[in-house]
Amino acid sequence: MDFNRVQVQGFDIYPDYLSPDVQSRMVADVRLIASAAPLFHPITPSGRKMSVRMTSAGRVGWVSDRRGYRYDRVHPDGMSWPPIPDSILTVWRDLSGTERDPDCCLVNFYGEAARMGLHQDKDEQDFSQPVLSISLGDDALFRMGNVERGGPTKSVWLRSGDVVVMGGEARLRHHGVDRLRFGSSPLLPNGGRINLTLRVVD
Ligand code: SIN
Ligand code: MN
Repeated sequence: MDFNRVQVQGFDIYPDYLSPDVQSRMVADVRLIASAAPLFHPITPSGRKMSVRMTSAGRVGWVSDRRGYRYDRVHPDGMSWPPIPDSILTVWRDLSGTERDPDCCLVNFYGEAARMGLHQDKDEQDFSQPVLSISLGDDALFRMGNVERGGPTKSVWLRSGDVVVMGGEARLRHHGVDRLRFGSSPLLPNGGRINLTLRVVD
């Protein structure tokens, strides 16, 4: 298959990687994940409610509460996480550049006012394994920074069907989502954005 790749701040961005049909299939698969393991608003260790809602698929899921950020074998309500759907695993196998399958697919749902502050993904054991991110639904302004806090950042609008691979020097770079263009995509009938991140955890 033919696709484009652009590099920004060491992040590999594949614009328009997923066809509209594949995106719709993935949304249906994400709805199944959320019906087995409902979306919840994580609480940060300092006690603030995150604006995104989250759930996970895979052997472990990412959770946050007053005890801290971590991966857990069960959802906060006690159920196991559903398996990572093949529609999503295929993207990892095609683009991650690693032999290992991911342990976790974190599902982030952004409503109109949701955002995600600049942060590093560092709750995993092996930073030689990439994190792969899939965008579905409304456009999001994605900011990419540096490994150290501060310094110049670059931003791109991620659109539905775009894939980003954070590997190599970008693996520990700060990144976040400043805002959505709510209603910009027809993929989700009520608007909003789904971001999927695939991670090897240990
Ligand atoms: C994340 O860093 O977990 C999410 C990034 C995104 O929503 O694009
Ligand atoms: Mn992240």
